[in-house]
Amino acid sequence: MSGHTQNLTLAIIKPDAFGSGKIGGVLGVLEEAGFKVRGSRVVRLDDRAAQAFYAVHSERPFFDSLVEFMTSGPCMPLALEHERAVPHLRDVIGATDPAEAKPGTVRALFAESKERNAIHASDSDDNARQELGFFFGHVDLIGAR
Ligand code: CMP
Repeated sequence: MSGHTQNLTLAIIKPDAFGSGKIGGVLGVLEEAGFKVRGSRVVRLDDRAAQAFYAVHSERPFFDSLVEFMTSGPCMPLALEHERAVPHLRDVIGATDPAEAKPGTVRALFAESKERNAIHASDSDDNARQELGFFFGHVDLIGAR
């Protein structure tokens, strides 16, 4: 099967944006883009949780630094609903490096650097399902099917 069919995806407002008071700003951009919030939490990841969440990047040179950043303060996982949620959210957050992110995207507006880049978003339907399951149980996803 090809294409994106899943109407829910996972975002995380990362510790940089959370700690600098940008939750409202980020949510405003997401809502303006048509996303409905179907789940939200505030969590402080520990090393094991951050390593597990980013296991796919474990061989990258930036892995230890990424884990240190993601455990440095609270963050806010979000379950977001939209038609074709995964590709739409990728468009709305912008490129990993804020210097390359299009104007008006979350990262152009709020990211500090390639690592401290304000927000995470799932990059495929399969990863969205897995990452939603990492943070949310079935009953947490209000109104979601
Ligand atoms: P995210 O979309 O959450 O996926 C992996 C994260 O690793 C990424 O956002 C950044 O926070 C971080 N990252 C990716 N590439 C680099 C890099 N070259 N240097 C530092 N951090 C990076």
